[in-house]
Amino acid sequence: MEIGHTTLALYAVGTAAVATSLLKLKTRLELSKAKHRSLSGHARMSRWMASLVPFYQYGETRFFCSDDAPTEIAARRRAGFMRLAELYRTRFAETAKRTAEVADGISDLQFTDAYRVPFQYSRFVREHLKGGAFVASSSGVTVTDLDGNRFYDLTGSYGVNLFGYDFYKECMARGAERVGELGPVLGAYHPVIAYNVARLRKISGLDEVSFHMSGTEAVMQAVRLARYHTRRSHLVRFCGAYHGWWGDVQPGVGNPVPAHETYTLQDMSEDTLRVLRRRRNIACVLVNPLQALHPNANAPADSSLLDSGRSADFDRAAYTEWLQRLREVCTEQKIVLIFDEVFLGFRLAPSGAQEYFGVQADLVTYGKTLGGGLPIGVLCGRKALMKRFRDDRPADICFARGTFNSHPYVMAAMHEFLHRLDTPEVRTLYHDLDAVWDRRAQALNQRLRDEALPVRVANMSSVWTVCYTTPSRYNWMLQYYLRAEGLALSWIGTGRLIFSLNYTEADFNAVADRFVAAAKAMQQDGWWWCDAATSNKSIRRRILREILAQRFSHSGEKLS
Ligand SMILES: Cc1ncc(COP(=O)(O)O)c(C=O)c1O
Repeated sequence: MEIGHTTLALYAVGTAAVATSLLKLKTRLELSKAKHRSLSGHARMSRWMASLVPFYQYGETRFFCSDDAPTEIAARRRAGFMRLAELYRTRFAETAKRTAEVADGISDLQFTDAYRVPFQYSRFVREHLKGGAFVASSSGVTVTDLDGNRFYDLTGSYGVNLFGYDFYKECMARGAERVGELGPVLGAYHPVIAYNVARLRKISGLDEVSFHMSGTEAVMQAVRLARYHTRRSHLVRFCGAYHGWWGDVQPGVGNPVPAHETYTLQDMSEDTLRVLRRRRNIACVLVNPLQALHPNANAPADSSLLDSGRSADFDRAAYTEWLQRLREVCTEQKIVLIFDEVFLGFRLAPSGAQEYFGVQADLVTYGKTLGGGLPIGVLCGRKALMKRFRDDRPADICFARGTFNSHPYVMAAMHEFLHRLDTPEVRTLYHDLDAVWDRRAQALNQRLRDEALPVRVANMSSVWTVCYTTPSRYNWMLQYYLRAEGLALSWIGTGRLIFSLNYTEADFNAVADRFVAAAKAMQQDGWWWCDAATSNKSIRRRILREILAQRFSHSGEKLS
């Protein structure tokens, strides 16, 4: 009898253990299913793979025919490259010289310079096409370098420049005047802050505001508060989304240690919603609405433009529907929904992406343009989520400070920014905003099509990316032709063109003329040659073979 009871108990324990294991397995499988198939969907693996890629570079001969182009094409490319190199040498002489003098001491500059193009070509390009990193002045929609060359600015200063550089110069100057008497006093506030808080509460539709020094810090604070209040550990970010360079939101390549409490899930996916419904350890979901332009893909940079596989397509209705569903699930599961509007805030609509997509988040981060030209990060949130201490547990606090938070000059420049946001001149810039930028993108694409150029642009309002329609290993060269035509791009090249809203039709037409001229010159120089056997897949296979050969050959670093 006793044996019977013991056996039964053992059976029961065994069955419970099996059931628990099966349930665990099921939730684990659901998580795997909700990951994007790409490498960026698998942070750990992508870091491991990245650590295995050996350095190698093409010698001068191979540089021009790494795609096995015929000799005649390689010669055309070489002639075009050397002509461009000569133009760079003379036109950007002073800017390049001054840049070279400081490059050795500025690590950031060394990094951005090395990662403008795929590493196999980088050294040769750096040797010959030195554009320089200095700019002397800005005006209208242009910037001028140390040699006096004026460029149409397509960098948008990483997204800060929304209303034109002169607008920010005024915000900074007027702001400095307003708080000059107080100077650099920190800790205490200048009264300008009251207006900022009132405006931000209205814009965000949320109760409280905290000020930080960068977008990265605002995101850190949003996640920390979500964890504190939900008492849950994990954050969810979507595949490819950038939220600053803090480790927890950058679990893949670029961060030397794994982020153990981050799930990177697929954007716009039912499988992701299933994970959000099932798991009990998720504190928050971070959304960077810019991903709507290229869901699940990393920010497009020319350093990873190995073939013509870059794609982008903004579907506002589909993304709106996705955000609404995400909102529902987060509400249902008491997961904090964070909109990271550091980049897009104010660019799509005066009240940002929340207004544009018609979705209210629990926490919202802003930055970049909101500082009126000065460094900023802002977090807005519901009252219950913003609180940093518990009334019933006085020692259990959620700490966040920062020496320069709420710096009077930043608060004053922000005050100017927010004040001007309401003026009729600025409001007219939002009039028919998407229609204007969609029409401009279509017009440029029509011209590129008419000229049979293998280049197209895709856009989300005034944020554009350049895509390529025939397989090629040399698309990244376009950034150098664009610069030669007087168009300034950021270090990520043709991956992201950011327009300020004060571009007039005439300004835009001038950019379009130059863009087409650059692409034509590049085509004439043979960079887009391809034969019937070339495809994006064949290019990727070829590069993989090179990497493997290099890894196992130990034959030195140059492929000639
Ligand atoms: C969406 C988003 N979040 C956060 C950040 C980080 O902001 P910051 O560079 O000011 O730290 C960025 C910067 O590009 C961003 O685009």
